[in-house]
Amino acid sequence: MGVRVHSSSTTSAVSLLLLLLLILVYKANASGCDFFTGNWVVDESYPLYDASACPFIEREFSCEKNGRPDLFYTKYRWKPQYCNLQRFNGLDFLERFKGKRIMFVGDSLSRNQWQSLTCILHSSVPNAKYSLTRQGDVSIFTFLDHDVKVMLDRNVYLVDVVREKIGRVLKLDSIEGSKLWNGIDMLIFNTWHWWNRRGPTQPWDYIQEGNEIKKDMDRVLAFEKALTTWAKWVDSKIDPSKTLVFFQGISPSHYNGTLWDEPSAKNCVGQKQPLGGSTYPGGLPPAVEVLKRVLKKITKPVTLLDVTLLCLLRKDGHPSIYGLGGSTGMDCSHWCLAGVPDAWNEILYNLIRGKI
Ligand SMILES: *[C@@H]1O[C@H](CO)[C@@H](O)[C@H](O)[C@H]1NC(C)=O
Repeated sequence: MGVRVHSSSTTSAVSLLLLLLLILVYKANASGCDFFTGNWVVDESYPLYDASACPFIEREFSCEKNGRPDLFYTKYRWKPQYCNLQRFNGLDFLERFKGKRIMFVGDSLSRNQWQSLTCILHSSVPNAKYSLTRQGDVSIFTFLDHDVKVMLDRNVYLVDVVREKIGRVLKLDSIEGSKLWNGIDMLIFNTWHWWNRRGPTQPWDYIQEGNEIKKDMDRVLAFEKALTTWAKWVDSKIDPSKTLVFFQGISPSHYNGTLWDEPSAKNCVGQKQPLGGSTYPGGLPPAVEVLKRVLKKITKPVTLLDVTLLCLLRKDGHPSIYGLGGSTGMDCSHWCLAGVPDAWNEILYNLIRGKI
């Protein structure tokens, strides 16, 4: 009795088991692949839809219709470093979300992604009936046959701006606007671009935190405080068995060529190619770190669509003089459609497969 075999065959069996375990861990990692590190590759089978066949596309994003002569920017596919994205299958998406409600909440970058998603889905069922309506700040796109609603709640700060006797007050601790987010099956939030706004288009006169009302404060700090209010709302109100929550991430602008090693470029006009590779010389905007810090504190599952790097590489993807302002405008913040936001949605599609 008391057999203490330590033969070479046991050793090799143990090694084999360890090896199998390693392979399993590696596989698990591969399926949970990091979708946000990668590069853009030319793919003639893109874009996912023909913008001219998307009848409800807004002028703001329809660069081709606004006269942009090159269409190279529609021919890129995002390629994660260690895996491939499944191509967006609109019909499959509509079936998964049958009877469900999707809502984007945020500023015009949310509008950009919302438009991209509705165009992708419409192009997959071009003859299906849809309706497009608006109730206050909420735009509602309904795929009537599939009973899928894809909505947009325009809410640039996520926290509230309230009109009071003294003027319009941006309330960093108040999130009454969240009433509109009840009962939604998938929420995709975003806020950032309006936090730096000053002058006549700044939509508030005072900023309030607790009982303290100020004329102004550090904007990045205000952003972090508002995000924290939102984060607490997620933790107290979201039921993860009913609602998937995403955050769109910081979508960067291209108004300074120094940041992509082209100091003579003062904006994005005339840019016809993305940056190659997976790095951006100018680094990430500081808001990314703030956002990640707040998201880490949330205990409920929230997935960051960490699109900043893939966007930074796409200095060619903005409307420039082919946006809302036309030749007198210079839009290097939004994105042409078809274009970069289609990749955000393709990643979203890959993330929700298996979850819904
Ligand atoms: C562009 O970025 C560089 C590097 O950060 C900076 O030194 C420069 O002031 C910026 N230019 C403008 C016009 O903001």
